[in-house]
Amino acid sequence: MKKTVLAFSRVTPDMVERLEQDFEVIVPHPKHGDIAAQFNDALPHAHGLIGAGRPLGEKQLAGAGKLEVVSSVSVGYDNYDVAYLSSRGILLTNTPDVLTESTADLGFALIMSSARRVAELDAWTKAGNWKASVGAEQFGTDVFGKTLGIVGMGNIGAAVARRGRLGFNMNILYSGNSRKTALEQELGAQMRSLEQLLAEADFVCLVVPLSDKTRHLISHAQLKMMKPGAILVNISRGPVVDEAALIEALRNNTIRGAGLDVYEKEPLAESPLWQLPNAVTLPHIGSATSETRQAMAWRAMDNLTAALKGQRPQDLVNPQAFKG
Ligand code: DGY
Repeated sequence: MKKTVLAFSRVTPDMVERLEQDFEVIVPHPKHGDIAAQFNDALPHAHGLIGAGRPLGEKQLAGAGKLEVVSSVSVGYDNYDVAYLSSRGILLTNTPDVLTESTADLGFALIMSSARRVAELDAWTKAGNWKASVGAEQFGTDVFGKTLGIVGMGNIGAAVARRGRLGFNMNILYSGNSRKTALEQELGAQMRSLEQLLAEADFVCLVVPLSDKTRHLISHAQLKMMKPGAILVNISRGPVVDEAALIEALRNNTIRGAGLDVYEKEPLAESPLWQLPNAVTLPHIGSATSETRQAMAWRAMDNLTAALKGQRPQDLVNPQAFKG
């Protein structure tokens, strides 16, 4: 008998078609009523889950008695209770690598947009405000040759740093748990403590995973350490930044601006950030290009298929749960 897969988000018709070659596939759909109810009804039958954006731990999965694998269509896995999944022998997989470059592109788009006020001046132009040559009120700040601080020099951080160094002749600083000697040679990058990095960088780009250690890594004290002309970019996870502290810093011009793709609560609703011209707010689109989402979906599908066939998936987050 075929195993059952519950495909709860980020699934395309061609994925479902392929999954159906090996599995029974359940895809909750609004036309069949409440999505959460469909998800809960299907859970006890599911051997595999595939999707993203849904917190999954004991509360949600207690009734999922047959579950063997959760295949996340994302690189971040802060939504999942890894210890709980592992204690039940449920494999967890993610999709690293395939989204590195598009997420770095978005990071750089936020650097550029914040520095040159792209979104703000687009709205200003469309509102009919352009009556004469612009003056200092519309000026931005340069990116070329400035100092870029990467907080969390993993694959995505390195890809942002490469754009800064090779495309914009920026000085690269980074902070994190380990020294990156190859990147130091490649990009002339220099390691700093977080405090030093915040004091020196013109652009601070957050690329750390969310964990107990990184929750509110950037709060009042850290924002005060930044240069008054500096810009904070967050392409990691919203709770890495204390959003209330950031709003205060943006209101008081403690820093120049912020480019944000992620928020403490998503989707972002009725936020003071909407009223702040020095905040660029995007709807968590780091990996949201057609090509990248397709690549992520197929990689997640390969992980799911391997796990349900008893093989070790390529991107196993909790190897301790794999019995081989
Ligand atoms: C990820 O993959 O973690 C990105 O944030 C997109 O969800």
